[in-house]
Amino acid sequence: MENINWSGLPFGYLKTDYNVRCYYRDGKWGELEVTSSEIINIHMAATCLHYGQESFEGLKAFKGKDGKIRVFRMDENAKRMQSSARGIRMAEFPQEMFEEAVRKVVKLNKRFIPPYESGSALYIRPLLIGLGAQVGVQPANEYMFLVFVTPVGPYFKEGFKPTKVCILREYDRAAPHGTGTYKVGGNYAASLAAGTLANSKGYAAVLYLDPKEKKYLDECGPANFFGIKGNSYITPKSDSILPSITNKSLMQLAEDTGMTVERRPVPVEELADFDEAAECGTAAVIAPLSQIDDLDTNKSYTFTTDNKPGAICVKLYNKLRAIQYGDEPDPYGWVTVID
Ligand SMILES: Cc1ncc(COP(=O)(O)O)c(C=O)c1O
Repeated sequence: MENINWSGLPFGYLKTDYNVRCYYRDGKWGELEVTSSEIINIHMAATCLHYGQESFEGLKAFKGKDGKIRVFRMDENAKRMQSSARGIRMAEFPQEMFEEAVRKVVKLNKRFIPPYESGSALYIRPLLIGLGAQVGVQPANEYMFLVFVTPVGPYFKEGFKPTKVCILREYDRAAPHGTGTYKVGGNYAASLAAGTLANSKGYAAVLYLDPKEKKYLDECGPANFFGIKGNSYITPKSDSILPSITNKSLMQLAEDTGMTVERRPVPVEELADFDEAAECGTAAVIAPLSQIDDLDTNKSYTFTTDNKPGAICVKLYNKLRAIQYGDEPDPYGWVTVID
């Protein structure tokens, strides 16, 4: 424990002390339970294993300069997990219990929250799975909610480093009326082939197009997309993307700094007009893009000349991080201080 290199942590799993669980049986949720086991013992016919009844979330707790621990917008994650549960017919986990479980798991693993100076954070991973045995394709009648934590390093150790992504039309992560708007495991399984192919070609991720017409931008593998054009923050509106809580927060901050926010279908060709482009999500907050290569048309869109992030990306990144770490006031009530 004493020898954790807090600022050198990867975005990976490190064992912590406890996780919190809750079971849904006979039509109702039970009490929160605390365990130190990393193992779940489940029925071999559980629906999560066969039919993908699985949803997860990702959020973070931050230790401030003042020593206080802040969790960012957990109410939004609780609501999104409920929406995912409805989407694949799982029992919804109540928002108050979700927040209580997050508070509990953070407090129980306090010693794993990285110090302020490290720029690292405690990643919180809630999970909801179908446990009941079914052989026919049916929703389970039993579920388990679980939340564990693991300390993760700063996404950009030496500050922002813009990355490249690619467009590949032969793969979709979600269908037009499918599950793209839910945070369910199947979407991530569906993205692995394209993702590993993109990685092997030197790209950080795939920027997916809308699966119906392949005309508009959707999102990146694990993050939403936004572009900056003059004084406008432009981000895709689509039924097949996950509603990112980071993107929602950045839209608010952009608006507050006097920018115009446009959430609408974004044609691929519009990439040529953007001054800046980026991915956004809990892991990195903002990951600026240096270049987007359309591998089907051989067009390249370049956003940085000196491999430095654009000024608006830097401004929004600094603003959001300052709220998360408690360096600046939180005018929107986004953070919950955990005592
Ligand atoms: C597909 C996808 N899009 C976007 C995001 C970003 O969402 P958030 O900002 O809520 O982390 C994530 C990560 O959760 C994701 O997996």
